[in-house]
Amino acid sequence: SIRTSKVACIGAGYVGGPTMATIAQRCPHIQVYVLDISQSRIAAWNSDQLPIYEPGLDDVVKECRGRNLHFTTDVSGMVKECDIIFVSVNTPTKTRGLGAGRAADLATWELAARCIAENADGPKIVIEKSTVPVRTAAAVQRVLEANEKPDVKFVILSNPEFLAEGTAMKDLEKPDRVLLGGPEDEDGQFALKLLVDVYANWVPREKILTTNLWSSELSKLVANAFLAQRISSINAISMLCEKTGANVKEVAHAIGLDSRIGPKFLNASVGFGGSCFQKDILNLVYLCESFGLPQVAAYWQQVVDMNEVQKHNFTRKVIDAMFNTVNRKKIAIFGFAFKKDTGDTRETPALTVCSLLMSDGAILHVYDPKVTREQALQEFRDHRLEFDFEKQFFWEEDAESAVQDSHAILILTEWDAFKGYDYSLFRKRMRKPAFLFDGRNILDHDKLADIGFEVHSIGKPPLRSRAPINNSH
Ligand code: NAD
Ligand code: UDX
Repeated sequence: SIRTSKVACIGAGYVGGPTMATIAQRCPHIQVYVLDISQSRIAAWNSDQLPIYEPGLDDVVKECRGRNLHFTTDVSGMVKECDIIFVSVNTPTKTRGLGAGRAADLATWELAARCIAENADGPKIVIEKSTVPVRTAAAVQRVLEANEKPDVKFVILSNPEFLAEGTAMKDLEKPDRVLLGGPEDEDGQFALKLLVDVYANWVPREKILTTNLWSSELSKLVANAFLAQRISSINAISMLCEKTGANVKEVAHAIGLDSRIGPKFLNASVGFGGSCFQKDILNLVYLCESFGLPQVAAYWQQVVDMNEVQKHNFTRKVIDAMFNTVNRKKIAIFGFAFKKDTGDTRETPALTVCSLLMSDGAILHVYDPKVTREQALQEFRDHRLEFDFEKQFFWEEDAESAVQDSHAILILTEWDAFKGYDYSLFRKRMRKPAFLFDGRNILDHDKLADIGFEVHSIGKPPLRSRAPINNSH
């Protein structure tokens, strides 16, 4: 006797918020409760300033909030009330203890499971929305069952989320697929069907896949590993391009036309970032090692290692080009978020590049349309990176202020707005020679060289200024 008119989600983050807002919008007959222990996060969800920036999210929240979408800190109360409970808490990499730096930290997950066990007074369907190591459902099952009361039965399903930040609302509205894993027994199949019916309100049936629990859990890690691998592969080739005169954009285009390879996700860059790729690959690596598969572990570890190399190489290129020193030089940083259209800075490549430059004495002036200085500083603190921020790390309200009297511009995030600037005006305000390092290959490099910039990008030879001599200032 599962009641399907109410669902809850523990964890009101980048995944819990947008996914539940979408369910509320697409299923007006379901009351959706998004729960979090963070008072400030819930307060923000209930305000006009949502805690995350995601294009299209504001409209959906405005449409549904108070109608059938509710944000509350009453976790235990709503867990009692709802029979279908998504769990979308954070599962970061462990920072200490066994498996530190690689294994997933499931402490938040276990707390959520215990909270469900304590408050359940009837049957519950618990859905893993967070990305978890394979076989987590078995551990969760044990925690729940050890605390079982009479009449209380738990079924655990896996429903990993594939949304990407910046396009979350589009991804949720039209997913490539929805993946649902469940136990093969009768209860499991019954619960799976209930969840299929929820998604079938807006997702075509043929795009809703059901598998066993372990395939579903593993597929999430593998999808991220394959995606990140494409980036590390093209980034590795970008280094070879720089040595040989090949142009990585041309190479990516040429290979991408092979329908077996496909054109997407082949943009060479300063490196991938985000809360998922590195964490999930390290998690996969750790699992392989735990299951006695060291060569498989080493194979995937390379994807992360190559990403580190790319971030370091990019920074070395900056320093080399600027006569081997950036000490006390003002450098304009365009973009601190890990990708465009998000304010998220988790594992952003900008953190590594900025840290390396500050270690060499550079004075950074950063502009990002969606990130605040405080948030960036928190990112340094979270990674225990200490600098004299008051002297070396300045935050600017616009790109023009960042550029004034600088020696170089570094593009670290591919924000569309960066393409529309008047770079010839920028160059006039800069020290000469004026350098531009395009870490995302988004600008017209020939045009920049014509204006008078020395242009360095990813995966093609640098361009010297081609400005006529009377235009050198
Ligand atoms: P997040 O940190 O933004 O949100 C997690 C939220 O859970 C936080 O607000 C935290 O306060 C809350 N929380 C933690 N423990 C709790 C508890 N016991 N009770 C109530 N609330 C609790 O994380 P996120 O980015 O939304 O990621 C969540 C999960 O989804 C992770 O496993 C992640 O790997 C996965 N995922 C993330 C993305 C992404 O793009 N961010 C995409 C797919 C999957
Ligand atoms: C990723 C997965 O795409 C998504 O399916 C999963 O649910 C969560 O992890 P996300 O990290 O939000 O999503 O963004 P994504 O678009 O995958 O970009 C990740 C990083 O790779 C960004 O730093 C991005 O700039 C970089 N990237 C992406 C490249 O450098 N080149 C590319 O071609 C694509």
